[in-house]
Amino acid sequence: RAGALAESLGYNLYIVGGFVRDLLLSQTNLDLDLVVEGDGIEFARRLNKELRGELDIYHEFGTAVLTLEDGLKLDIATTRVEYYSGIASLPEVELGCIQQDLFRRDFSINALAIQLNGHSFGQLVDYFNGREDLERGIIRLLHNFSLYDDPTRIFRGLRFASRYGFKFEPRTKELIKQAVNLDVIEKLSSNRLFTKLQLGLQDKYPIKFINLLKEENILIYISKDIIWDEDKEELATKVAEVLEWLKTLNLSFKFDEWVLYLMVLIWGMNHKQVKEFNQKFNLNKNLSYRLFFTLELDNLISNLKGTQDNSEIYYLLEGCAIEDLLLLLIKDFTLKDKVKLYLEELRWIDIKVSGEDIIEFGYKPGPFFQDALKAVKKAKLDGKIENHKEEQDYLRNYI
Ligand code: CTP
Repeated sequence: RAGALAESLGYNLYIVGGFVRDLLLSQTNLDLDLVVEGDGIEFARRLNKELRGELDIYHEFGTAVLTLEDGLKLDIATTRVEYYSGIASLPEVELGCIQQDLFRRDFSINALAIQLNGHSFGQLVDYFNGREDLERGIIRLLHNFSLYDDPTRIFRGLRFASRYGFKFEPRTKELIKQAVNLDVIEKLSSNRLFTKLQLGLQDKYPIKFINLLKEENILIYISKDIIWDEDKEELATKVAEVLEWLKTLNLSFKFDEWVLYLMVLIWGMNHKQVKEFNQKFNLNKNLSYRLFFTLELDNLISNLKGTQDNSEIYYLLEGCAIEDLLLLLIKDFTLKDKVKLYLEELRWIDIKVSGEDIIEFGYKPGPFFQDALKAVKKAKLDGKIENHKEEQDYLRNYI
């Protein structure tokens, strides 16, 4: 329908970018970027009349996003040319044809389009040999200033290289090296820099991505205090194993896996360095806590190794987030049974007695209430008492 509509308006319509790349690689990509040789916003409006979705128009960029009922999203833009006036600045935009629109893009493998209207429906538009590069597994920049226009493309390149196992074409490798040596990454705000790191850690092969960051001398821009060596890489390979183990427990947790890679990445920093890292990237509280936790890891592991009673395990682990517990196992998987016991049983154990019971025994509230209730909980954790009645007896005796 979109193709027929474009045809009726006299526009050429194309699907471009990641969708086409991944289609040729037989991989799923539901990121649908459409470009129109014509008035993109007008086309989006007309299309929405037919499809009755929700349309958001961004006049300043000449783009629109059409969200359909089933959640499918279409990004619609007018074919354009971009001119960059300075490193990492926003481009000035002018209308252009599909060839120019493809040429403004980062890599040849992303500069492919498929026409969706008229007689050429389904035809691959490939001005820059993107298809051949895809087949040969090569990442090639389209123009020499690309990385100065937009330094985040360095991170995109590393992400594609790690995701698909592709190699950089020699000239592109050289351009990356030059751009890095000229400190283009310094031009990115710390916020953007962190987002690019995060995207890489969220991608399919985060370890390969980190290795590439190191190889291309980029890690240092994230933090000069990061150590990435064979031991750290070995540790990072354990992330997947521990996540598999977690699945066997049949518990449901909401957490971000990439945070585990980040924790491994910064593990080994001292307090001051972690603090600086959190501040530099203005990380939220939860993420900051996770990174500070890495400082306690070794102590926690040795304490946990020494535990005999369930209550000791409980009180050591009770303040930990799930990411912390997983990091603990990434570092020392021999502790899995204790963590499992905590996750499956201990953390759910609660007592029914309360301060009310102590008042009923004839006492006035005081600080000893807490100690007494904690003693009951400890006894319950250690399996010495089980039901409400036993809790009450224990409490009475304790007091
Ligand atoms: N693009 C670009 N330079 C950038 C970002 C994007 O040239 N810094 C172009 C590329 O042609 C890319 C398209 O815009 O294919 C869409 O970008 P986006 O959806 O962000 O990326 P994808 O290529 O789809 O990558 P991913 O699979 O990681 O989403």
